[in-house]
Amino acid sequence: FNVPTPKNEPILGYAPNSKERVSLKAKLAEMKSQVIEVPMFIGSEELKEGKKLPLTSPHDHQHVLGYYYEGDASHVNKAIDSSLAAREKWANMSWEHRVSIFLKAADLSASKYRMELNAATMLGQSKNAFQAEIDSACEWIDFLRFNAHFATQIYAQQPESSEYVWNRSEYRPLEGFVFAVTPFNFTAIAGNLPASAALMGNVVVWKPSPTQIYSAYVLMKILKEAGLPDGVINLIYTDGPLTGDIAFRHPEFAGVHFTGSTKVFQHIWKTIGENIHIYKSYPRIVGETGGKDFVVAHTSADTKALAVGLLRGAFEFQGQKCSAASRAYIPKSLWESTWEYFSKDLAELKMGSVEDFSNFVTAVIDEKAFDKIASYIDWAKNSDTAKVIAGGSYDKSKGYFIQPTVILTEDPKFTTMTEEIFGPVLTIYLYEDDQFEETLHLVDTTSPYALTGAIFSQDRYAIELATKKLTNAAGNFYINDKPTGAVVGQQPFGGGRASGTNDKAGSSLNLLRWVSPRTIKENF
Ligand code: SER
Repeated sequence: FNVPTPKNEPILGYAPNSKERVSLKAKLAEMKSQVIEVPMFIGSEELKEGKKLPLTSPHDHQHVLGYYYEGDASHVNKAIDSSLAAREKWANMSWEHRVSIFLKAADLSASKYRMELNAATMLGQSKNAFQAEIDSACEWIDFLRFNAHFATQIYAQQPESSEYVWNRSEYRPLEGFVFAVTPFNFTAIAGNLPASAALMGNVVVWKPSPTQIYSAYVLMKILKEAGLPDGVINLIYTDGPLTGDIAFRHPEFAGVHFTGSTKVFQHIWKTIGENIHIYKSYPRIVGETGGKDFVVAHTSADTKALAVGLLRGAFEFQGQKCSAASRAYIPKSLWESTWEYFSKDLAELKMGSVEDFSNFVTAVIDEKAFDKIASYIDWAKNSDTAKVIAGGSYDKSKGYFIQPTVILTEDPKFTTMTEEIFGPVLTIYLYEDDQFEETLHLVDTTSPYALTGAIFSQDRYAIELATKKLTNAAGNFYINDKPTGAVVGQQPFGGGRASGTNDKAGSSLNLLRWVSPRTIKENF
């Protein structure tokens, strides 16, 4: 069998007065005027029980979009039991029938549900329309279609045989359930973590971030409408540590598909280690965690391209991408020209609600994030070795708004050069022009993370040197481009060191973690 050869979903532009803008605006207005109630999905049930909590917009935190229900330990156990009850039938369904469900979900997401998905991401996570479109529409659809294609390639991989011996490989799902723990910052990633494991025949318990529940709910509706059987993915809104305590202490725990903080992932790893004797198999541990992503410019860089890369890399979606540019190294001789371009563009960025499509910057996700980011900005304001040269103000009275902020430092190890902030803050260090190689060493050794990074240069020797010296500094390395915006099927995504297990989302490498192959040899 061959699934249709996937192509990346074309991005809608939402130009003023375009059909798609009118339709997205209408959907936003409709969804804003409702107060929805979001159930948990466990087995065949849609449950509205537990603690009733509001869903609000980060850019307008007093506006209640609806309510969700926070479950307790009984819901975690019920979700695990429901997944295990669904396992035998799902694991034994021929793969082309499984794949069909996800291909149908892709088509539903591209058409009937596109505006609803984008509007849920805009209202619930404060993404502007363009960022929502590339995430909750295009990237999600791409994950579904490309993974279907990669799955068929995996199933087709067979060993050599001979005249008297037939060898074959079966790509069985894992024995047990997979636990998907997903982030707020990409609706596509939140959906892909449970969906990719389920595509390969696994049953899943899915716990999204509490700040992504609205769009998680829409994703689940789509999967259900596409024909996903009950119990294959169970969506619960429960406390993280509580859910982890139950899931990781369950003998049928088979793997975790995680995107979130390094600290939580390391805790998960330890807990799994402590319980290793109770599991049937060694669990798969797949995680994408933090980043402190760099941009390094060589003296040969095109400063206009560099300025655009920095601006977009650092400030799209308020810097809340694990791939966001957050530390930059620029040769002193390029600074004036780079800053001229950069500051001009920065002055034009508008900040406000997602409903005004001319706003590039909107709010950060919640109060906790706001306070953390603001404290880093204050730290820089009060420091002798750094200066806030743009932005620096913040206001949480209506929404969690933080101005895109640029910090210039003479200390390459300044706190905001080394620690992950996860917000619209870029720190720049200016280096002596003849110190390029030393600077590459700094880039490599300043942070424990290794997710993304970029080099801007027109000099091939410099590009080659940076590519070699930074071999382990970034799982996704960009030459003359911003370090964000990996496209499924084009730039498989993931990093090493403290940034994760580098099991490349959007490629067959990731899907291989969700199968347990069996080799069969038969003599004739
Ligand atoms: N995949 C996203 C990007 O490349 C980050 O998670 O920007």
